[in-house]
Amino acid sequence: MDRRVIVDTDTAGDDTQALVLALASERLTVEAVTVVAGNVEFEYEVENAKYTLSVLDREDVPVYEGARSPLLKEWDHADHVHGEGGLGGDLFADTGIDSADGHAADAIVEHARDAPGELSLLCIGPLTNVALALAREPELPDLLDEVVVMGGAVGCLGNDTPAAEYNFWVDPDAAKRVVRDLDVTLVDWGLVLRDAFLGADDIARLEGVDTPRADFFETISTAPRQFTRETTGEDGLTLPDSLAAACLIAPELIEEQARYHVDVDEREGLTRGYSLVDVNGVLDEPPNATVVESVDADRFTELFLATLSGESPESAL
Ligand code: BDR
Ligand code: CA
Repeated sequence: MDRRVIVDTDTAGDDTQALVLALASERLTVEAVTVVAGNVEFEYEVENAKYTLSVLDREDVPVYEGARSPLLKEWDHADHVHGEGGLGGDLFADTGIDSADGHAADAIVEHARDAPGELSLLCIGPLTNVALALAREPELPDLLDEVVVMGGAVGCLGNDTPAAEYNFWVDPDAAKRVVRDLDVTLVDWGLVLRDAFLGADDIARLEGVDTPRADFFETISTAPRQFTRETTGEDGLTLPDSLAAACLIAPELIEEQARYHVDVDEREGLTRGYSLVDVNGVLDEPPNATVVESVDADRFTELFLATLSGESPESAL
């Protein structure tokens, strides 16, 4: 299996690790990285993406800069989670690598048109770039293969507000359009809490591992680990974007998934970014998305740790 993929990312923290998984995968060919406004200042995100490519010796992958703000709403960072620059606090990347010419949304459209039905998207940030690509190419749904989205909070509290997960909260107008028009596979915050929490014991297994990837993970995990300790009392960190990457790389990790009607509340106010998932089918609307409901957490952990040890994710399967 060789799947062509664009990774659309607000590169900070776990985004970098999701990129590592995608780049290290034998099943994926990462054709481009597209950057969107999200976790930290845009310029930091762009550098963080390039720095991640350099850790993997993959500076050949083009980085396209995209939306510098959400479609309509005010942008709010999450640097209180990931540290100011987004790489754990002290590391501010300065790679000297040039960005590719053109806007991220155009890059998505062009790569999709190159081979209709072959390109998949791994969307691990706010969905602004993807919504802009849809606006530029209404046929995009037919041109794409799979679209895996990390976003939403299905039947659980959000991580940004009680109603909303961060990626959907930042640009709910984009999330609404993308969920409406593309047939997405949703990896939501509740799934992350259930199946993608890397605890202190798991992290300790990396202590003797001397690889650039493991060192990089240690750097980026300092700030989110501290945030997790302060907010939940637990020692460890969640891996939302890496879980989304793993679902694309290794769908055999998915234990349960179901088709539902999904919508996003784009209105300003208490429920901004709320992801409505009609689990009981009471709205009588056709299903438009696949919601991943359970992943084999142990196998995901093994896949993640194997990759940081320098192997491919597939080596753990
Ligand atoms: C998502 O929000 C961001 O802070 C993370 O990078 C992840 O994509 C989790 O809600
Ligand atoms: Ca992200």
